[in-house]
Amino acid sequence: MKRLLSIGLSLLLTSPVWADEGMWLLPLLKQQKFPEMQALGLKLQDYDIYSPDSASIKDAVVIFGGGCTGEVVSPDGLVLTNHHCGYGQIQQHSSVEHDYLTDGFWAMTRAEELPNPGLKVTFIDKIEDVTEYVLEELKKDTDPNSMNYLSPAYLNGLAVEKTGEKYLQDHPGTEVEIKAFYGGNKYYMFTKKIYPDVRLVGAPPSSIGKFGADTDNWMWPRHAGDFTVFRIYADVNGNPAEYSESNVPLRPKRWLKISLKGVQENDFAMMMGFPGRTNKYYTSWEVAERRDIDNTVRINVREIRQQVMLEEMLKDPVVRIQYFSKYAGSTNAYKNSIGSNWAINKRNFEEVKREEQDKLLVWAARMNKPEYKEALSVLEQIVKDRKDLRFRSWMLDEAISRGIEFTRVPSSVEGLSTAIRQKDTETRKNELERLKNGYERFADKDYSPVVDAKVAKVLLKEYRRLIPADKQPAYFSTIDKQFKGDVDAFVDHLFKSSIFGSEDNFRKFYQHPSVKGLENDPMILFAQAVQQEKQALADALKDFDAAYANAHRTYVRGLLEMYGDQANFPDANFSLRLTYGQVKGYAPRDAVYYDCQTTLEGVMEKEDPDNWEFVVPERLKELYQAKDYGQYGLGNGRMPVNFCATTHSTGGNSGSPVLNANGELIGINFDRNWEGVGGDIQYLPDYQRSIIVDIRYVLFIIDKYAGAGYLLNEMDLMDQ
Ligand code: ARG
Ligand code: ASP
Repeated sequence: MKRLLSIGLSLLLTSPVWADEGMWLLPLLKQQKFPEMQALGLKLQDYDIYSPDSASIKDAVVIFGGGCTGEVVSPDGLVLTNHHCGYGQIQQHSSVEHDYLTDGFWAMTRAEELPNPGLKVTFIDKIEDVTEYVLEELKKDTDPNSMNYLSPAYLNGLAVEKTGEKYLQDHPGTEVEIKAFYGGNKYYMFTKKIYPDVRLVGAPPSSIGKFGADTDNWMWPRHAGDFTVFRIYADVNGNPAEYSESNVPLRPKRWLKISLKGVQENDFAMMMGFPGRTNKYYTSWEVAERRDIDNTVRINVREIRQQVMLEEMLKDPVVRIQYFSKYAGSTNAYKNSIGSNWAINKRNFEEVKREEQDKLLVWAARMNKPEYKEALSVLEQIVKDRKDLRFRSWMLDEAISRGIEFTRVPSSVEGLSTAIRQKDTETRKNELERLKNGYERFADKDYSPVVDAKVAKVLLKEYRRLIPADKQPAYFSTIDKQFKGDVDAFVDHLFKSSIFGSEDNFRKFYQHPSVKGLENDPMILFAQAVQQEKQALADALKDFDAAYANAHRTYVRGLLEMYGDQANFPDANFSLRLTYGQVKGYAPRDAVYYDCQTTLEGVMEKEDPDNWEFVVPERLKELYQAKDYGQYGLGNGRMPVNFCATTHSTGGNSGSPVLNANGELIGINFDRNWEGVGGDIQYLPDYQRSIIVDIRYVLFIIDKYAGAGYLLNEMDLMDQ
């Protein structure tokens, strides 16, 4: 206790970091956080977690696909991640006869495991501090406005140069990457090994994997079995190789042991994974900008759009299937923005960041470092100056580009026009085919012109209400000139007369293509006008980027100097990080406490056979009624489902392994509570919780529900 107290006290004096805050870089972990982790209960040595020269737990943590995390759990390359991370693959293998999304999928032998072209799993073999090398190289760059110091293309070029082409040729599947940290004050190089043969082994039905769907998304208490099982294959030498029948299961350097012991409130917990993006180094002005522009526009516009979508989805089961995924994608970021603004206001993030700035100003004055004061005033000025442009850009993006689907009709038709005019039959034919493919891609099986028209009507009205006429895409003036400001009539006209307005219209055009038909097409003109406006806004905003990035980099450098860089962690940038804390419930409101563990009782409480989000599969109900939980139950007649912890996670941490004090797997991270998403800007110790599937629920579903218990034979299950 004394030790904890003194650590807590010294923390308060030397660093701005809360006990459980932080997405820590592995090479710095030992100096930065290891003593605290041990004080919280960790029983491992630092080299068990991360060792530059031998296998450690980090070698079992992978990037799954392009934006999720996964973990290796067997010597035969078995990988766990989330159901929502494997969703695309499960969908691809699904058809009316084999609806794996609805029914789940289980390979009962290795031969039944399903290949997934395009899916990759990435190991991080090596992490090196290359700051000096990069800063030296950057000196060759004389352009004062150059943004090379943040450019992935430039930095990856350096990574290849440093490693040598020859090395990369000799090591198939190896790639190197240099990433900027702390706004470009530090650089790390990652040597990665990428395996392109990853097969689907098992997935629960969506009624388990996505139980609670959108209603429960970003919510605690939660009851989803959000996991999928894959396997990595390699050539016979264990090297990365494209799919081939002769490939064999990968023998990984390291796989995680799995704990059957379960979790108790206040237990130590840590998570490793690939958090995508955070904004911890915002100034107070950027916090206000995020709240008043980015989040506010998103919340306002999506609410309007989703209401129309939902109405149509409830009316028509066909539309429900078509718009299901679009709706879910929309509400995911929408709910996140609501939680973000809630936290910004409730916890006065503006004030929190202002205090930090003020501290730096005092320190900088004392140390005679005027550059930090200068950087802060540049940031303040930029936020002021870009206000109008940023608002217009967010409105255009949310209300028009993302919101209205027909802004994405194929609108580069010049090639076809020219070919028709020049009577170039060969080109004409090719261009016409290209247009047809483009149209079919746009108006795919999930597109409903009825829904799109309804959405366009409400969004255009909102856009025109908030953006002055002379700041709108030029073509929008047609609405006033030709339609007396009647947006509904304008939209109806687009659908009636555009070649993309209906299949019928397109067929007619396809049979008799004409230049006039293309050049006066109102949807094409609409889409082109939106693109032009988007480009104009992006160009205007770009003028601020170089100065902004430079000031941000300087500001962060100031904080690092003031606090000492041992005390701070860099913003998330999709690199491998560790976060630790405790299994813990929370008090969302006065007199309400949420426990840290949910059980199957809660699944049954939420059951609603008439609502697709809360259907409970028959087989699960049987197991529940028989209390047939085997070694996975809690021992009091209950079956654990999810738990939550104070770990500091964000988007990209989905699928991340959650480990106990012995480094054994206790769960798979899949979400956060909405009260905690403000942690992307400022960690909230009393609110922020990672939402995690209890590994015992995963094993129970595999073994008892799916009858695929043979998979457990290759895992290391620890019951002591
Ligand atoms: N909110 C989680 C994350 O940001 C899960 C999203 C997928 N689930 C859903 N119901 N939409 O990615
Ligand atoms: N659900 C998120 C993900 O997919 C995780 C989070 O935002 O906490 O990465």
